[in-house]
Amino acid sequence: MSMTVRRLTRAATAGLVAAAALTAAAHSAEAADTLGSAAAGQGRYFGTAVAANHLGEADYAATLDREFSSVTPENEMKWDATEPSRGTFSFGSADRIVDHAQSQGMDVRGHTLVWHSQLPSWVGSLGASDLRTAMNDHINGLMGHYKGEIHSWDVVNEAFQDGGSGARRSSPFQDKLGNGFIEEAFRTARAADPAAKLCYNDYNTDGVNAKSNAVYDMVKDFKSRGVPIDCVGFQSHFNSNSPVPSDYRQNLQRFADLGVDVQITELDIEGSGSAQAADYTKVVEACLAVSRCTGMTVWGVTDKYSWRSSGTPLLFDGNYSEKPAYDAVLSALGGSGDPGDPGDPGDGTPSCTATYTRTADWSSGYNGQVTITAGGEPISSWTATVTLPAQQSVSALWNGTPAWSGNVMTVRPSWNGTLAAGASTGFGFTVAKNGSDAAPAIGICTAS
Ligand code: G3I
Repeated sequence: MSMTVRRLTRAATAGLVAAAALTAAAHSAEAADTLGSAAAGQGRYFGTAVAANHLGEADYAATLDREFSSVTPENEMKWDATEPSRGTFSFGSADRIVDHAQSQGMDVRGHTLVWHSQLPSWVGSLGASDLRTAMNDHINGLMGHYKGEIHSWDVVNEAFQDGGSGARRSSPFQDKLGNGFIEEAFRTARAADPAAKLCYNDYNTDGVNAKSNAVYDMVKDFKSRGVPIDCVGFQSHFNSNSPVPSDYRQNLQRFADLGVDVQITELDIEGSGSAQAADYTKVVEACLAVSRCTGMTVWGVTDKYSWRSSGTPLLFDGNYSEKPAYDAVLSALGGSGDPGDPGDPGDGTPSCTATYTRTADWSSGYNGQVTITAGGEPISSWTATVTLPAQQSVSALWNGTPAWSGNVMTVRPSWNGTLAAGASTGFGFTVAKNGSDAAPAIGICTAS
């Protein structure tokens, strides 16, 4: 789709604006029992990364539309998706997300204009002068297409190295244009869409460390010289190797004190149950404690489509059930879960979720592990089903009791049926592939 077509289509689609307004009104009329409405009560947005190819899945779209007030295209606005060859822009997938968001009254974060990754090879082969022109053309092409429709853009993403040096990361932009490329990108972006907030976005900058110090120094310098920057994004991808830093709030605050907004842009925390919930609480509380922390975005709707799927890092499990982490976030935002919702604390209904990971793999077989996590109430037993591809057979199973019907294995506890609210257990099994490497399907977990 060309830029011109999109502008004409948008201007001609007056009904879309009316529909968006109606949906927005419906959102605000709800009690604060969704992430988006509870965050709005705190003057913040609560967003998620979205993939265009999942929008047709009814449960995905229903969860997205019910819970979130902002979306970030997970891959669809990146350079490889939007300008795969020089001067030829393709906006089809990104337009689908923007159109969907607008029809639901949601805001859109733009991700991302200048990044070393997901960069088509033609960019890396340009000489310095051509590269500068191509960078500015890309910013103008993308921001021009969505002018007035994006609340914040990640103008430059991940330009600093990990580790202790605080140095810039090697990239075509850094190596050929030098340190000035970031400033140039922000100046071009401001002219392209003066209404959009312009952010620098990075990871492992969530606490005070050498990398965040280097970003801090850059932002301070930009502010002192009038380089247009409005916000800093803290990706916040956490796991046991990279836990929520104890100085997270303090770090957000020191950036805010430079006169920029801060946003939590790609939040996910590997884990499960009450420990994961407690970590999510820390993040939300840190944002709420910093008045210039304007919103939070989790990096996906459901564990099953996460880039770290095996770490189950999100708020909804693979069946779109609310996890303890969801309840914790909603509560930290001041929202109230409906005690009638399955999985919510106090609903009196035992519930559980089941997530699957392949833990070992060899040519003729693999090991699978299913993690069972209790919902908001304690449980005394659980049942999970594993449907195997037709050729495969199970040669061993541990920490569970199987019963078979065709290729469907129903597993109940052996010794591990009793779980506290939010606690986890699991069972493992060894599969003979017999020529099929496909993954088993895990059914809905039931609890008593
Ligand atoms: O679309 C192709 C598909 O056609 C192909 O069959 C398949 C085979 O691997 O690949 C598909 O592309 C994948 C794409 O996600 C869409 O699913 C790429 O291989 C895969 O590399 C890409 O991963 C994305 C990653 O960025 C790439 O850097 C993740 O989805 C996305 O969540 C992740 O997001 C990044 C942020 O942009 C920046 N911060 C870190 C964050 C996590 O890595």
